[in-house]
Amino acid sequence: MPVIDGITATEIITSELPSVSVILTSVQGDQEFIRKAMKAGARDFLIKPFSNDELIDTIKSVFKSDQRKRQLYTAPTAGAAEGTGTARAKGKKEGEVVTLFATKGGVGKTTVLLNLAVTLSKYGGYKVAVVDFDLQFGDVAIMLNLIPSRNVISLLEEPPPWTSNVVLDYMIPHEQSGIEVLLAPSRPEYAEIVQVEHIEQTLMLLREQYDYILVDTSSMFRNIELSVLDASQQILVVTTLELSAIKDMKLCLDLLANLNYNPDKIRLVLNRGKPNVGGITYEDVQSGLKKEISALIPTEGRICIEAINKGTPFMLNDTSSELAVSFLKLAEIVTGQKVRSSEPAAAKAGGGLFDRFSSIFSGQGGR
Ligand SMILES: Nc1ncnc2c1ncn2[C@@H]1O[C@H](COP(=O)(O)OP(=O)(O)OP(=O)(O)O)[C@@H](O)[C@H]1O
Ligand SMILES: [Mg+2]
Repeated sequence: MPVIDGITATEIITSELPSVSVILTSVQGDQEFIRKAMKAGARDFLIKPFSNDELIDTIKSVFKSDQRKRQLYTAPTAGAAEGTGTARAKGKKEGEVVTLFATKGGVGKTTVLLNLAVTLSKYGGYKVAVVDFDLQFGDVAIMLNLIPSRNVISLLEEPPPWTSNVVLDYMIPHEQSGIEVLLAPSRPEYAEIVQVEHIEQTLMLLREQYDYILVDTSSMFRNIELSVLDASQQILVVTTLELSAIKDMKLCLDLLANLNYNPDKIRLVLNRGKPNVGGITYEDVQSGLKKEISALIPTEGRICIEAINKGTPFMLNDTSSELAVSFLKLAEIVTGQKVRSSEPAAAKAGGGLFDRFSSIFSGQGGR
Protein backbone atom coordinates (compact mmCIF):
# COMPACT_ATOMS: atom_id res chain seq x y z
CA MET A 1 0.00 0.00 0.00
CA PRO A 2 1.36 3.44 -0.89
CA VAL A 3 0.99 5.34 2.41
CA ILE A 4 0.99 2.76 5.22
CA ASP A 5 1.56 -0.97 5.22
CA GLY A 6 -1.30 -3.47 5.42
CA ILE A 7 -0.59 -4.52 8.99
CA THR A 8 -0.65 -0.95 10.32
CA ALA A 9 -3.83 -0.28 8.34
CA THR A 10 -5.41 -3.42 9.80
CA GLU A 11 -4.48 -2.34 13.33
CA ILE A 12 -6.04 1.09 12.80
CA ILE A 13 -9.23 -0.27 11.21
CA THR A 14 -9.81 -2.94 13.84
CA SER A 15 -9.19 -0.59 16.75
CA GLU A 16 -11.27 2.31 15.34
CA LEU A 17 -14.02 0.16 13.81
CA PRO A 18 -14.17 -3.09 15.81
CA SER A 19 -17.26 -4.33 13.97
CA VAL A 20 -15.35 -4.40 10.64
CA SER A 21 -13.76 -7.71 9.63
CA VAL A 22 -10.44 -7.36 7.81
CA ILE A 23 -9.09 -9.91 5.30
CA LEU A 24 -5.48 -9.11 4.48
CA THR A 25 -3.98 -9.98 1.08
CA SER A 26 -0.25 -9.96 0.43
CA VAL A 27 2.49 -11.50 -1.67
CA GLN A 28 4.25 -12.31 1.59
CA GLY A 29 3.08 -15.61 3.02
CA ASP A 30 5.66 -16.49 5.65
CA GLN A 31 4.50 -17.56 9.12
CA GLU A 32 5.86 -14.48 10.85
CA PHE A 33 3.99 -12.10 8.52
CA ILE A 34 0.75 -14.05 8.87
CA ARG A 35 1.14 -14.10 12.66
CA LYS A 36 1.62 -10.31 12.67
CA ALA A 37 -1.47 -9.88 10.47
CA MET A 38 -3.58 -11.98 12.84
CA LYS A 39 -2.18 -10.16 15.86
CA ALA A 40 -3.13 -6.85 14.19
CA GLY A 41 -6.71 -8.12 14.05
CA ALA A 42 -7.01 -9.56 10.51
CA ARG A 43 -9.71 -12.23 10.43
CA ASP A 44 -8.18 -14.10 7.50
CA PHE A 45 -5.27 -13.95 5.12
CA LEU A 46 -4.94 -14.58 1.35
CA ILE A 47 -1.61 -14.97 -0.39
CA LYS A 48 -1.43 -13.32 -3.84
CA PRO A 49 -2.19 -14.45 -6.46
CA PHE A 50 -5.55 -15.93 -5.50
CA SER A 51 -8.62 -16.82 -7.52
CA ASN A 52 -12.01 -15.08 -7.44
CA ASP A 53 -13.49 -18.21 -5.90
CA GLU A 54 -10.92 -18.23 -3.11
CA LEU A 55 -11.68 -14.58 -2.34
CA ILE A 56 -15.45 -15.16 -2.32
CA ASP A 57 -15.13 -18.26 -0.14
CA THR A 58 -12.92 -16.42 2.34
CA ILE A 59 -15.30 -13.45 2.56
CA LYS A 60 -18.26 -15.80 3.07
CA SER A 61 -16.51 -17.82 5.76
CA VAL A 62 -15.33 -14.75 7.70
CA PHE A 63 -18.79 -13.21 7.41
CA LYS A 64 -20.44 -16.39 8.70
CA SER A 65 -18.16 -16.78 11.70
CA ASP A 66 -18.31 -13.08 12.60
CA GLN A 67 -22.07 -13.03 12.25
CA ARG A 68 -22.34 -15.62 15.02
CA LYS A 69 -19.97 -13.61 17.19
CA ARG A 70 -21.97 -10.44 16.54
CA GLN A 71 -25.19 -12.21 17.54
CA LEU A 72 -23.60 -13.20 20.82
CA TYR A 73 -21.89 -9.90 21.50
CA THR A 74 -24.61 -7.49 20.48
CA ALA A 75 -27.21 -9.26 22.51
CA PRO A 76 -29.83 -6.80 23.69
CA THR A 77 -28.43 -5.14 26.77
CA ALA A 78 -31.17 -2.57 27.10
CA GLY A 79 -32.41 -2.56 30.63
CA ALA A 80 -29.20 -4.10 31.89
CA ALA A 81 -28.28 -1.01 33.84
CA GLU A 82 -31.63 -0.82 35.55
CA GLY A 83 -32.03 -4.59 35.76
CA THR A 84 -30.85 -5.13 39.31
CA GLY A 85 -30.47 -3.16 42.43
CA THR A 86 -26.73 -3.50 42.21
CA ALA A 87 -26.25 -2.36 38.62
CA ARG A 88 -23.89 0.50 37.89
CA ALA A 89 -25.34 3.89 37.11
CA LYS A 90 -26.31 4.44 33.50
CA GLY A 91 -23.90 6.48 31.43
CA LYS A 92 -20.85 5.55 33.52
CA LYS A 93 -17.84 4.44 31.55
CA GLU A 94 -17.22 0.73 31.19
CA GLY A 95 -15.44 -1.08 33.99
CA GLU A 96 -11.85 -2.28 33.78
CA VAL A 97 -10.70 -5.87 33.62
CA VAL A 98 -7.65 -6.34 35.87
CA THR A 99 -6.01 -9.75 35.52
CA LEU A 100 -3.65 -11.37 38.00
CA PHE A 101 -1.17 -13.51 36.15
CA ALA A 102 1.96 -15.44 37.06
CA THR A 103 4.18 -17.87 35.24
CA LYS A 104 4.76 -19.87 38.37
CA GLY A 105 2.20 -21.46 40.66
CA GLY A 106 1.95 -20.58 44.34
CA VAL A 107 3.41 -17.06 44.14
CA GLY A 108 0.33 -15.56 45.77
CA LYS A 109 -1.88 -14.57 42.83
CA THR A 110 -5.16 -15.47 44.49
CA THR A 111 -4.12 -13.94 47.82
CA VAL A 112 -3.24 -10.67 46.05
CA LEU A 113 -6.37 -10.78 43.90
CA LEU A 114 -8.82 -11.29 46.76
CA ASN A 115 -7.27 -8.75 49.09
CA LEU A 116 -7.07 -6.20 46.29
CA ALA A 117 -10.73 -6.91 45.48
CA VAL A 118 -11.75 -6.41 49.11
CA THR A 119 -9.70 -3.19 49.30
CA LEU A 120 -11.28 -1.76 46.14
CA SER A 121 -14.77 -2.63 47.32
CA LYS A 122 -14.60 -1.94 51.04
CA TYR A 123 -12.25 1.05 51.18
CA GLY A 124 -12.45 2.37 47.61
CA GLY A 125 -16.24 2.13 47.32
CA TYR A 126 -15.99 0.51 43.89
CA LYS A 127 -18.31 -2.13 42.53
CA VAL A 128 -16.06 -5.14 42.16
CA ALA A 129 -16.44 -8.53 40.49
CA VAL A 130 -14.02 -11.40 40.97
CA VAL A 131 -13.88 -13.98 38.19
CA ASP A 132 -12.10 -17.27 38.81
CA PHE A 133 -10.72 -18.28 35.43
CA ASP A 134 -8.12 -20.53 37.06
CA LEU A 135 -10.43 -23.06 35.49
CA GLN A 136 -8.95 -26.33 36.71
CA PHE A 137 -7.89 -25.53 40.25
CA GLY A 138 -9.56 -22.24 41.12
CA ASP A 139 -9.31 -21.46 44.82
CA VAL A 140 -11.55 -18.43 45.10
CA ALA A 141 -14.57 -20.32 46.53
CA ILE A 142 -12.54 -21.87 49.32
CA MET A 143 -10.55 -18.72 50.05
CA LEU A 144 -13.78 -16.71 50.42
CA ASN A 145 -15.68 -19.49 52.18
CA LEU A 146 -18.42 -19.34 49.54
CA ILE A 147 -20.96 -22.07 48.95
CA PRO A 148 -20.43 -22.86 45.26
CA SER A 149 -24.11 -22.99 44.35
CA ARG A 150 -23.39 -21.82 40.78
CA ASN A 151 -20.31 -21.23 38.66
CA VAL A 152 -19.11 -20.54 35.13
CA ILE A 153 -20.25 -23.98 33.95
CA SER A 154 -23.82 -23.27 35.05
CA LEU A 155 -23.60 -19.99 33.13
CA LEU A 156 -22.59 -21.88 29.97
CA GLU A 157 -25.87 -23.77 30.11
CA GLU A 158 -27.66 -20.48 29.32
CA PRO A 159 -28.65 -20.29 25.64
CA PRO A 160 -27.21 -17.33 23.72
CA PRO A 161 -27.60 -14.46 23.33
CA TRP A 162 -26.45 -13.55 26.82
CA THR A 163 -27.06 -10.19 28.40
CA SER A 164 -25.21 -8.75 31.36
CA ASN A 165 -28.25 -9.62 33.50
CA VAL A 166 -27.87 -13.27 32.54
CA VAL A 167 -24.26 -13.22 33.75
CA LEU A 168 -25.28 -11.42 36.97
CA ASP A 169 -27.51 -14.36 37.86
CA TYR A 170 -24.38 -16.51 38.22
CA MET A 171 -22.45 -14.12 40.44
CA ILE A 172 -22.27 -15.11 44.11
CA PRO A 173 -22.24 -12.23 46.60
CA HIS A 174 -19.56 -12.12 49.27
CA GLU A 175 -21.46 -10.28 51.91
CA GLN A 176 -18.62 -9.14 54.18
CA SER A 177 -16.87 -7.24 51.40
CA GLY A 178 -19.57 -6.45 48.83
CA ILE A 179 -17.66 -8.13 46.01
CA GLU A 180 -19.47 -10.53 43.68
CA VAL A 181 -17.87 -13.68 42.35
CA LEU A 182 -18.09 -15.89 39.27
CA LEU A 183 -16.62 -19.19 40.39
CA ALA A 184 -14.48 -21.70 38.50
CA PRO A 185 -15.86 -25.15 37.63
CA SER A 186 -16.19 -27.44 40.62
CA ARG A 187 -14.02 -30.15 39.04
CA PRO A 188 -10.88 -29.88 36.87
CA GLU A 189 -12.34 -32.04 34.09
CA TYR A 190 -15.04 -29.43 33.39
CA ALA A 191 -12.46 -26.75 32.63
CA GLU A 192 -12.19 -27.60 28.96
CA ILE A 193 -15.89 -26.87 28.42
CA VAL A 194 -15.02 -23.18 28.76
CA GLN A 195 -13.98 -21.71 25.41
CA VAL A 196 -12.31 -18.45 24.41
CA GLU A 197 -15.65 -17.02 23.20
CA HIS A 198 -17.21 -17.59 26.63
CA ILE A 199 -14.32 -15.80 28.33
CA GLU A 200 -14.48 -12.83 25.96
CA GLN A 201 -18.23 -12.49 26.20
CA THR A 202 -18.41 -12.86 29.98
CA LEU A 203 -15.76 -10.22 30.59
CA MET A 204 -17.29 -7.84 28.07
CA LEU A 205 -20.72 -8.11 29.72
CA LEU A 206 -19.31 -7.75 33.24
CA ARG A 207 -17.69 -4.45 32.21
CA GLU A 208 -21.21 -3.04 31.88
CA GLN A 209 -21.99 -3.84 35.50
CA TYR A 210 -18.83 -3.40 37.58
CA ASP A 211 -16.13 -0.78 38.03
CA TYR A 212 -13.41 -3.42 38.35
CA ILE A 213 -13.45 -7.04 37.25
CA LEU A 214 -10.53 -8.88 38.88
CA VAL A 215 -9.67 -12.10 37.08
CA ASP A 216 -7.66 -15.01 38.46
CA THR A 217 -5.85 -17.20 35.93
CA SER A 218 -3.79 -20.36 35.85
CA SER A 219 -0.03 -20.07 35.34
CA MET A 220 -0.05 -21.10 31.69
CA PHE A 221 0.07 -19.44 28.30
CA ARG A 222 -2.75 -21.12 26.39
CA ASN A 223 -5.50 -19.58 24.28
CA ILE A 224 -7.71 -19.30 27.36
CA GLU A 225 -5.16 -17.26 29.32
CA LEU A 226 -4.28 -15.17 26.24
CA SER A 227 -7.95 -14.35 25.71
CA VAL A 228 -8.17 -13.13 29.32
CA LEU A 229 -5.01 -11.04 28.88
CA ASP A 230 -6.37 -9.63 25.59
CA ALA A 231 -9.58 -8.58 27.32
CA SER A 232 -7.70 -6.92 30.20
CA GLN A 233 -7.11 -3.22 30.62
CA GLN A 234 -4.49 -3.98 33.29
CA ILE A 235 -2.34 -7.06 33.87
CA LEU A 236 -0.73 -7.50 37.28
CA VAL A 237 2.07 -10.04 36.94
CA VAL A 238 2.95 -11.49 40.33
CA THR A 239 6.38 -12.79 41.25
CA THR A 240 8.44 -13.52 44.35
CA LEU A 241 12.11 -13.06 45.25
CA GLU A 242 13.20 -16.51 44.04
CA LEU A 243 15.55 -16.92 41.13
CA SER A 244 13.28 -19.45 39.41
CA ALA A 245 10.24 -17.16 39.70
CA ILE A 246 12.24 -14.21 38.34
CA LYS A 247 13.57 -16.30 35.43
CA ASP A 248 9.99 -17.29 34.55
CA MET A 249 8.89 -13.68 34.90
CA LYS A 250 11.57 -12.57 32.41
CA LEU A 251 10.31 -15.17 29.91
CA CYS A 252 6.76 -14.00 30.53
CA LEU A 253 7.58 -10.31 29.93
CA ASP A 254 9.51 -11.20 26.75
CA LEU A 255 6.60 -13.23 25.46
CA LEU A 256 4.08 -10.49 26.23
CA ALA A 257 6.34 -8.01 24.41
CA ASN A 258 6.57 -10.36 21.39
CA LEU A 259 2.80 -10.60 21.37
CA ASN A 260 2.70 -6.78 21.21
CA TYR A 261 0.99 -6.23 24.56
CA ASN A 262 1.15 -2.59 25.51
CA PRO A 263 3.86 -2.45 28.24
CA ASP A 264 1.86 0.26 30.02
CA LYS A 265 -0.91 -2.19 30.83
CA ILE A 266 1.51 -4.64 32.47
CA ARG A 267 2.50 -4.05 36.10
CA LEU A 268 4.84 -6.07 38.27
CA VAL A 269 3.76 -7.02 41.76
CA LEU A 270 6.51 -8.41 43.97
CA ASN A 271 4.88 -10.59 46.59
CA ARG A 272 6.72 -11.74 49.71
CA GLY A 273 9.33 -9.17 48.73
CA LYS A 274 10.12 -8.09 52.29
CA PRO A 275 12.12 -8.84 54.31
CA ASN A 276 14.81 -9.90 51.89
CA VAL A 277 15.96 -13.30 53.10
CA GLY A 278 17.29 -15.01 50.00
CA GLY A 279 20.07 -12.68 48.85
CA ILE A 280 18.10 -11.25 45.90
CA THR A 281 16.87 -7.72 46.42
CA TYR A 282 13.96 -5.75 45.05
CA GLU A 283 16.47 -3.61 43.12
CA ASP A 284 18.09 -6.74 41.60
CA VAL A 285 14.69 -7.80 40.27
CA GLN A 286 13.94 -4.38 38.79
CA SER A 287 17.27 -4.11 37.03
CA GLY A 288 17.20 -7.76 35.89
CA LEU A 289 13.74 -7.42 34.41
CA LYS A 290 14.32 -3.86 33.17
CA LYS A 291 10.89 -2.97 34.47
CA GLU A 292 9.77 -1.02 37.48
CA ILE A 293 8.09 -2.96 40.27
CA SER A 294 4.74 -1.26 40.89
CA ALA A 295 3.89 -2.89 44.21
CA LEU A 296 5.85 -4.55 46.96
CA ILE A 297 3.89 -6.85 49.26
CA PRO A 298 5.67 -7.94 52.46
CA THR A 299 5.90 -11.51 53.73
CA GLU A 300 3.33 -12.30 56.41
CA GLY A 301 2.98 -16.06 56.43
CA ARG A 302 0.86 -16.36 59.53
CA ILE A 303 -1.67 -13.71 58.49
CA CYS A 304 -1.96 -15.11 54.94
CA ILE A 305 -2.39 -18.74 55.96
CA GLU A 306 -4.87 -17.87 58.70
CA ALA A 307 -6.89 -15.80 56.21
CA ILE A 308 -7.01 -18.71 53.75
CA ASN A 309 -7.98 -21.23 56.42
CA LYS A 310 -10.74 -18.98 57.75
CA GLY A 311 -11.93 -18.04 54.28
CA THR A 312 -11.66 -14.38 55.26
CA PRO A 313 -9.26 -12.13 53.30
CA PHE A 314 -7.13 -10.22 55.80
CA MET A 315 -8.07 -6.85 54.28
CA LEU A 316 -11.54 -7.27 55.78
CA ASN A 317 -10.14 -6.68 59.27
CA ASP A 318 -6.77 -5.03 58.92
CA THR A 319 -5.93 -1.62 57.52
CA SER A 320 -2.89 -0.62 59.50
CA SER A 321 -0.29 -3.41 59.24
CA GLU A 322 2.48 -3.06 56.68
CA LEU A 323 0.75 -5.80 54.66
CA ALA A 324 -2.56 -3.91 54.67
CA VAL A 325 -0.90 -0.62 53.74
CA SER A 326 0.73 -2.32 50.74
CA PHE A 327 -2.75 -3.31 49.50
CA LEU A 328 -4.13 0.20 49.99
CA LYS A 329 -1.19 1.41 47.86
CA LEU A 330 -1.79 -1.26 45.23
CA ALA A 331 -5.45 -0.22 45.03
CA GLU A 332 -4.33 3.37 44.41
CA ILE A 333 -2.01 2.22 41.64
CA VAL A 334 -4.78 0.23 39.96
CA THR A 335 -7.40 3.00 40.21
CA GLY A 336 -5.14 6.04 39.93
CA GLN A 337 -7.25 7.46 42.81
CA LYS A 338 -6.78 7.83 46.54
CA VAL A 339 -8.06 4.82 48.47
CA ARG A 340 -8.34 5.47 52.17
CA SER A 341 -9.24 2.98 54.80
CA SER A 342 -12.40 3.95 56.62
CA GLU A 343 -13.35 2.54 60.00
CA PRO A 344 -12.49 -1.16 59.70
CA ALA A 345 -15.74 -3.03 60.10
CA ALA A 346 -15.49 -6.31 61.96
CA ALA A 347 -15.95 -9.06 59.42
CA LYS A 348 -18.15 -11.98 60.17
CA ALA A 349 -15.81 -14.93 60.46
CA GLY A 350 -16.59 -17.89 58.23
CA GLY A 351 -17.63 -21.26 59.64
CA GLY A 352 -15.24 -23.04 61.99
CA LEU A 353 -12.05 -24.45 60.49
CA PHE A 354 -13.21 -28.00 61.13
CA ASP A 355 -16.50 -27.38 59.25
CA ARG A 356 -14.60 -25.89 56.31
CA PHE A 357 -12.13 -28.77 56.27
CA SER A 358 -14.94 -31.35 56.29
CA SER A 359 -16.89 -29.56 53.55
CA ILE A 360 -13.96 -29.89 51.11
CA PHE A 361 -14.16 -33.65 51.40
CA SER A 362 -17.93 -33.96 51.46
CA GLY A 363 -17.95 -33.34 47.66
CA GLN A 364 -20.07 -30.93 45.69
CA GLY A 365 -22.78 -32.50 43.58
CA GLY A 366 -23.01 -30.22 40.52
CA ARG A 367 -20.50 -28.95 38.01
N1 LIG B 1 2.59 -11.93 51.20
C1 LIG B 1 2.60 -13.20 51.59
N2 LIG B 1 3.33 -13.57 52.69
C2 LIG B 1 3.37 -14.84 53.10
N3 LIG B 1 2.73 -15.85 52.50
C3 LIG B 1 2.00 -15.55 51.42
C4 LIG B 1 1.90 -14.23 50.91
N4 LIG B 1 1.11 -14.26 49.81
C5 LIG B 1 0.72 -15.53 49.66
N5 LIG B 1 1.26 -16.32 50.61
C6 LIG B 1 1.07 -17.76 50.79
O1 LIG B 1 1.48 -18.42 49.59
C7 LIG B 1 0.67 -19.56 49.37
C8 LIG B 1 0.14 -19.49 47.94
O2 LIG B 1 -0.76 -18.41 47.84
P1 LIG B 1 -1.89 -18.35 46.72
O3 LIG B 1 -2.76 -19.56 46.79
O4 LIG B 1 -2.50 -17.02 46.81
O5 LIG B 1 -0.94 -18.45 45.43
P2 LIG B 1 -1.37 -18.67 43.90
O6 LIG B 1 -0.31 -18.03 43.08
O7 LIG B 1 -2.76 -18.26 43.69
O8 LIG B 1 -1.26 -20.26 43.79
P3 LIG B 1 -1.81 -21.20 42.61
O9 LIG B 1 -0.77 -21.14 41.52
O10 LIG B 1 -1.88 -22.56 43.26
O11 LIG B 1 -3.13 -20.68 42.20
C9 LIG B 1 -0.39 -19.56 50.44
O12 LIG B 1 -0.01 -20.42 51.45
C10 LIG B 1 -0.40 -18.13 50.96
O13 LIG B 1 -0.76 -18.04 52.29
MG1 LIG C 1 -4.41 -19.32 42.97
